[in-house]
Amino acid sequence: MHPITSGLETELLRAVASAADETSLEELRVTALGKKGSISERMKTLSGMDPDERREAGAALNALKDKVAAAIAEKRRILADAVLERRLATESADVTLPIRPVMTGTIHPVSHVWEEVVQIWGDLGFAVAEGPHIEDDFYNFGALNMPPEHPARQEHDTFYFNEKPDGSRMLLRTHTSPVQIRTMRSSTPPIRIIAPGRTFRCDSDQTHTPMFHQIEGLLVDEQTNLGQLKWVLTEFCKAFFELDDVKMRFRASHFPFTEPSMEVDINCSWEAGQVKIGAGSDWLEILGSGMVHPNVLKAGGLDPDRYQGWAFGMGLDRIAMLKYGIPDLRAFFEADLRWLRHYGFSFTDVPTLAGGLS
Ligand code: DAH
Repeated sequence: MHPITSGLETELLRAVASAADETSLEELRVTALGKKGSISERMKTLSGMDPDERREAGAALNALKDKVAAAIAEKRRILADAVLERRLATESADVTLPIRPVMTGTIHPVSHVWEEVVQIWGDLGFAVAEGPHIEDDFYNFGALNMPPEHPARQEHDTFYFNEKPDGSRMLLRTHTSPVQIRTMRSSTPPIRIIAPGRTFRCDSDQTHTPMFHQIEGLLVDEQTNLGQLKWVLTEFCKAFFELDDVKMRFRASHFPFTEPSMEVDINCSWEAGQVKIGAGSDWLEILGSGMVHPNVLKAGGLDPDRYQGWAFGMGLDRIAMLKYGIPDLRAFFEADLRWLRHYGFSFTDVPTLAGGLS
């Protein structure tokens, strides 16, 4: 070993070997190889040497520099490996634990019931029809046999928009019945549709919200009758409430757009404030229906001497409350997470007639 490196090499290599972590190793690199480091200090003495001596001493110092740099790099790798080993030893994952649910959101009961209803009527041969939430007077009232002076208009608590220059006002549809007219005008019989959707009335208490959901049903053909309507509504209720048999009551009633008209009640029992469908001796009204009025067929562009039809309208939120025992309608639209977690459905719970509805 050249005398210029003697002592220094052993000292530096020993220091590298005993460096405890990356920080002390870095400090060591600076004190050994840095501009003011120990090797650089000895480099400075080269200038006072004669050429031969300088060549040998210089080569020896450069070799030492490379050796120390290599030792530091090797030590750095060993330290990094040790850090990784320590992390792997402490940060373990127990792969036998159950996985966390991918999604914690739920499907709103109204969405779920909407889908159930579409499935049932789809199986009976009914397609889904849609209409706009913002309607005009003709579709929401006039075409449904409710001329401007008709008293039934008052019951609808209509939300109106500002007057247009011609004095007319658009409105938020108060029921899904305008979809009957739109469907008749855009298709030719036989017509078999349901129209689930949002409806709006200026009303709010425990059983009313300004926005709520209805489902409309309409059948138009050259021949149909009230018996068919009663049968199909009974079949719907059995399928929806998942009962083998259900008692229904068809009461004579009045709607401007149907003649004759009937309101339909379903048999139920009340126990400890809880309603149970298909048992007991009480009745709950669930829908309005009837044979389509000839004036409505005419407004829909159909000849009432050739065609006849029946229709019904049902509260979607109401049948959701009845089926799933949900007490307060207002809670439906408050977006309370605890309520949604309690009454909501899993996104994997897709209702089908084959796989089960609820
Ligand atoms: N549109 C009515 C309402 O909102 C419900 C209704 C009753 C619809 C009888 C119908 C029907 O189609 O035939 O109160």
